[in-house]
Parts: sequence; C-alpha cells; structure tokens
Amino acid sequence: MWIDTHAHLDMPEFSKDLNLVIERAAEERVQSIITVGVDLKSSKRAVQLAEIYPLVYAAVGIHPHEATGFVEVALEDLARIAQNQKVVAWGEIGLDFFKLYSPVQDQMRAFEAQLQMATDLKLPVIIHDRDSHEDTLKALKRFGRRDRAGVVHCYSGDMALAQQLFALGFFISIPGIVTYKKADLVKEIASGVPLERILIETDAPFLSPAPFRGKRNEPAFVPITGREIARLRGLSEEKFAEATTANAKYLFGI
Ligand code: NI
Repeated sequence: MWIDTHAHLDMPEFSKDLNLVIERAAEERVQSIITVGVDLKSSKRAVQLAEIYPLVYAAVGIHPHEATGFVEVALEDLARIAQNQKVVAWGEIGLDFFKLYSPVQDQMRAFEAQLQMATDLKLPVIIHDRDSHEDTLKALKRFGRRDRAGVVHCYSGDMALAQQLFALGFFISIPGIVTYKKADLVKEIASGVPLERILIETDAPFLSPAPFRGKRNEPAFVPITGREIARLRGLSEEKFAEATTANAKYLFGI
C-alpha cells in the first residue's frame, strides 16, 4: 500500500471527476491521500473532502504565493478548522523566491507566524521551499528539533541540506520528477537518503510522472514514483512501499 503525502484535490482540475480519481487511487493500492490547503478557502475545502472520503486527510495553511494580504486573524480561522480529527498537518507553508508572487517580507511573516502556530498546536508542517533553501533552514532552525517536525515537499535541495533537515526531525518528500530523464539531483537524493526519512507524493494535479508528463497528475500515479525510487535503491516495490507508508503514518499520526 502507498500513501500520497501531497495532493491538491480541491483544485478545479478535479472538480468534474473527483469520485473517479479517488476510486482509481484505491484501485492502485493508495491507502491514504493528504490534500493540502494553500489559503483559507482551499484549506476549508480540504477539510470538507477529508470528511467525505475516508482515505483522504487534510492539511491547512497559507502558501507563500498567497502570503500578501496575510492577516493574523486568518490564523485563528485555520487553527479552528485544524481541530478537525482529519487534519494531520499544517501546510503548505514556506518560501518561494523563484516565482516571488509575494514579496519576500510578506512570505517571511506568514511563514514564521504559521511555524509558531503549528508548533503550538503540535502539528507537523508541510514545507514549500523553492530557491529559498538558506532562509527556509534558518527559519526552521529557530523552532528547534521536534520528533515529528514535518516534511519538505518536492525536495529540491542537496544531501547536505537534507542532513540538516533530518537533524531537525524533518522528512523529505519526492515527487514524480524523479522519473524524468534529466533529474540527476533528485535521483541522487531519492536513492541516497536514509529509508526512514523519505516520503513520496504526487503534488497532483501538477508534476505528473513519466509517461504522463504534461498531463494532469492524480494520486493513482504515486506508485509509479514509488516503483522508480525502489528501482534506484535496489529494493523491492513492496519493501519500499511498506517503508514510506510507515514513515507517513508516523509523521502524520494516521
Ligand atoms: Ni503543493
């Protein structure tokens, strides 16, 4: 069985056929899907979906793209919906200095306020870090080590950064990019990090694994990514599925 630790099931790409998407995931032995909010509205929707579908869990948070206009009162609303039993993480939060849809200062403010809230609520965090490794690590370090600190999703750093994250209690999550021919660094990371620190994800509807690259991604494709990493590591598919599923269950308490 597999767990897709990062999907965006609330996005319009899934509005027409979500029942079928969930069914296909179950057929491919995906036992749980974490659907991740990017703002207050999508976080509410994530919680609704988790209430509708037994295999879906939710994360609530404000994405760095949405950091401008972030107000403290939104934190209170999110904290309230985070009380739902099917909310297993706070996210996605973080920094994105590549797209810079929000100014750096806005991103930092939203990120740190949410790290504080997640720590207060004892929830693991789901981190988005694009071209912002140094500042992300600095912010995480300020909150110190926690056993179930969270996950850096779509991990794009190197091994040295990964080691520092592991020391803080973080996991890293690998998406379908690992199936692309030129993704040398992602392949190196996916095959080299300790088995007990790795998760897998789709980031659906984005980042479809080969051979579906460019098409809509969905949780049913997460085993394709899992099989590729198992191959790179010289492990059986079963063994790798078992390990990443145990990691996800431990981190998110599911
Ligand atoms: Ni995402």
